[in-house]
Amino acid sequence: MALAVLFFSPANAAEADELKRGQYIFNLSGCAGCHTIKKASGKKSTDGFIAGGRKFETKFGTFFSPNITPDLNAGIGKWDFADFTRAMRDGISPEGKNYYPSFPYTSYNKMSDVDLSALWTYLKTVPANNRANTSHDLEPPFSWRFLISIWKIPNFNKSPMLPVEGKSKTWERGRYIVEALSHCSECHTPRNIMGGLAIAMNYAGTNSSPEGITVPNITSDKETGIGKWSAGDLDMLLKIGMLPDADFVGGSMAESITYSTSKMTDADRAAVIEYLRGVKPVNNYIKSKNGANSEENW
Ligand code: HEC
Ligand code: HEC
Repeated sequence: MALAVLFFSPANAAEADELKRGQYIFNLSGCAGCHTIKKASGKKSTDGFIAGGRKFETKFGTFFSPNITPDLNAGIGKWDFADFTRAMRDGISPEGKNYYPSFPYTSYNKMSDVDLSALWTYLKTVPANNRANTSHDLEPPFSWRFLISIWKIPNFNKSPMLPVEGKSKTWERGRYIVEALSHCSECHTPRNIMGGLAIAMNYAGTNSSPEGITVPNITSDKETGIGKWSAGDLDMLLKIGMLPDADFVGGSMAESITYSTSKMTDADRAAVIEYLRGVKPVNNYIKSKNGANSEENW
């Protein structure tokens, strides 16, 4: 990837800036984690970078991420910006099919125009890879894509992010990163029976995520959430994955840290922290395997 960036010689500084911005948005949005196969070693194969094939086992069936490199046949090389915008904003493919919400367009639709366009500029510079896509392994009714259009009615709130009165610029920036780019709620908010986000329980964690993992409550609730964490505690977590008890987070959060939060600028991380600390407290006890959210941490 670094090579592609080197060989791509931008005509001017504006283009170089656009590319840099695109790569930053790509990182914060965690695209690489989901679209790259996890090797047995746990390290990502650079040759398969965003060539898809990563397996997601959920209670709805098994999903495989597609190849999003610019390969003309195996990837999205034939797409134009309008195709990309429709995928990211509406969750609809160039053929007019609905995407499963395992692709978090439920968050990405809120991405700003400039960020979306920079992200597209960056994606086009990634080396093409001809790895063919693997079909999802889903049982009916989950295999019926047309049903997603019904799912979308109550579960897909496509709306741009409007400023909230009385909130600081930092808070707005934090909200944008958390809600639109880093899609924290996609894991930290429990889902309803249809697999949609249960908004009243925003960030309150879950013992039964679609992937069967336990996700802690990160609302500002003092008892069951992270209300007792200092800004410094959150900073350490988002930067290097260290918990207040000096243990390290694992699983999918470790991945979010590697791909996304550790790459945030200091200002952006501070914005995320300001936003998170203001998330409405929800009392929801999550029984975690590593004791996260439990009294042992304190
Ligand atoms: C949580 C995992 C996850 C993350 C994060 C993710 N994707 Fe995906 N993406 C998927 C899955 C799974 C699909 C397949 C959805 C389907 O088949 O309906 C998909 C589909 C796509 C498609 C459609 C490709 C095609 O061939 O039709 C594009 C484009 C895409 N993702 C781009 C991105 C970009 C850009 C990012 C980062 C901003 C991103 N994805 C982040 C899991 C993810
Ligand atoms: C792919 C799913 C996923 C995403 C996306 C995700 N998280 Fe997490 N997060 C987890 C899991 C799982 C854990 C528990 C990890 C463990 O127990 O080792 C966790 C743990 C945490 C913790 C520690 C809480 C505690 O009590 O121990 C915080 C804080 C946190 N996440 C914040 C965030 C923020 C902020 C974002 C967005 C920038 C985010 N997470 C995105 C899955 C995710």
